[in-house]
Amino acid sequence: MCRLGMPDCFGLLEYYLMDASSLLPVLALDIQHGHSVLDLCAAPGGKTLALLQTNNCRFLTANDLSVSRCKRLQTVMRSYVPRDQRTDKNVQITTRDGRLWGDVENSTYDRVLVDVPCTTDRHSLLEEENNIFHRMRTKQRQMLPLLQTELLLAGILSTKPGGEVVYSTCTLSQLQNEYVVERAVELAASEHGVHVEPQDLSCFRKVFKDTFNFYQDCRVGELVLPHLTANFGPMFFCKLLRIR
Ligand SMILES: C[S@@+](CC[C@H](N)C(=O)[O-])C[C@H]1O[C@@H](n2cnc3c(N)ncnc32)[C@H](O)[C@@H]1O
Repeated sequence: MCRLGMPDCFGLLEYYLMDASSLLPVLALDIQHGHSVLDLCAAPGGKTLALLQTNNCRFLTANDLSVSRCKRLQTVMRSYVPRDQRTDKNVQITTRDGRLWGDVENSTYDRVLVDVPCTTDRHSLLEEENNIFHRMRTKQRQMLPLLQTELLLAGILSTKPGGEVVYSTCTLSQLQNEYVVERAVELAASEHGVHVEPQDLSCFRKVFKDTFNFYQDCRVGELVLPHLTANFGPMFFCKLLRIR
């Protein structure tokens, strides 16, 4: 969920409200000074803002397939990011099918965020509008794991050897989380000869143990479980290092 605040004296909005656990995939990406970054499914742009706030991106490409959501992304950028920090030289917004990104810019980026469309469990429980569990959207829901795998695979192929990619969702579904990661890792190796290794993110469990309620038994990645005393998430995030 996001809500816009009031403009400050520079005409910029002061805060962007979102689930605190949404910052974890961005932190896991560990952007270092001078990195080139691709945000493959970026709209409406909460995580893009957090990526830019690291002040470390030499260049950021924010992409989304949806034209209308890209317009929201552009509005978010204009509303929150000072003009001199979003010139054509440092931020590019594109509207492409992320699944094809590996063909366009292969082995290009130091860091890639793949924050995929998913069943958005909290939203689906609370909101009727646009609910992915609606009967009319059954086919689309069933196709999600395939779409997610294709997007993650494209993200892997766009990452430079030695670079890192973070996959994230806001669902509890093991199929959309761990299974998608494992399948994309397999496909990268068998179809493209590209090897990636899931990274240990258990330090997040230690550092944020007083803020978030983590599931203890993910095979790969970390999962924040909503809890009455720590009502954030769900948020799954997994980091892959591209070896070659
Ligand atoms: C979970 S949302 C991204 C949220 C965003 N990262 C943020 O923090 O605000 C997933 C996005 O994926 C986009 N999407 C769906 N299919 C896509 C595709 N084939 N290529 C690129 N983006 C896609 C959707 O339009 C949606 O905006």
